[in-house]
Amino acid sequence: MAPRGPRLALLLPLIQLTVCLALASGQSCRDRNYRFRWNHVDIRRLSHTRHNSYCNMRMKKMSIYEKAVNTFIHAPSEAVNFICMGGGIRIPPDLLRSKRYFKLTTCTYNKSLSYTGRYHRRQIVVRCCHRLATYLQE
Ligand SMILES: *[C@@H]1O[C@H](CO)[C@@H](O)[C@H](O)[C@H]1NC(C)=O
Repeated sequence: MAPRGPRLALLLPLIQLTVCLALASGQSCRDRNYRFRWNHVDIRRLSHTRHNSYCNMRMKKMSIYEKAVNTFIHAPSEAVNFICMGGGIRIPPDLLRSKRYFKLTTCTYNKSLSYTGRYHRRQIVVRCCHRLATYLQE
């Protein structure tokens, strides 16, 4: 019989180490993508009328109320991440413009200390990290 046990025992720590390193290097990108999605991705479709209240409600919920400008992308996060996987056109040095158009709500904090929401449809510019979107140019 071939001495399988000992060989596997030697190999296992090596495999574990490799997996750990892979996870560690991907971790920060995933964290940043999670934050990006939290701040900018909201698949929920909107009625075309209540953008201001949408912005006020959404910005409060996210506890980033008083942030000057924040844009929400109304698409699945997979569609946004796809910009990093062939769905984008490179803008040097490190940004990508989406080939497709996205439905967006841009919330701007105004003088009455509330948000004015603007609904529009355009290409978006993102930065990617390990094929995950981590930054939205606003
Ligand atoms: C600020 O936004 C609110 C809606 O959230 C709106 O009613 C108000 O008129 C806006 N104020 C200014 C100065 O644009």
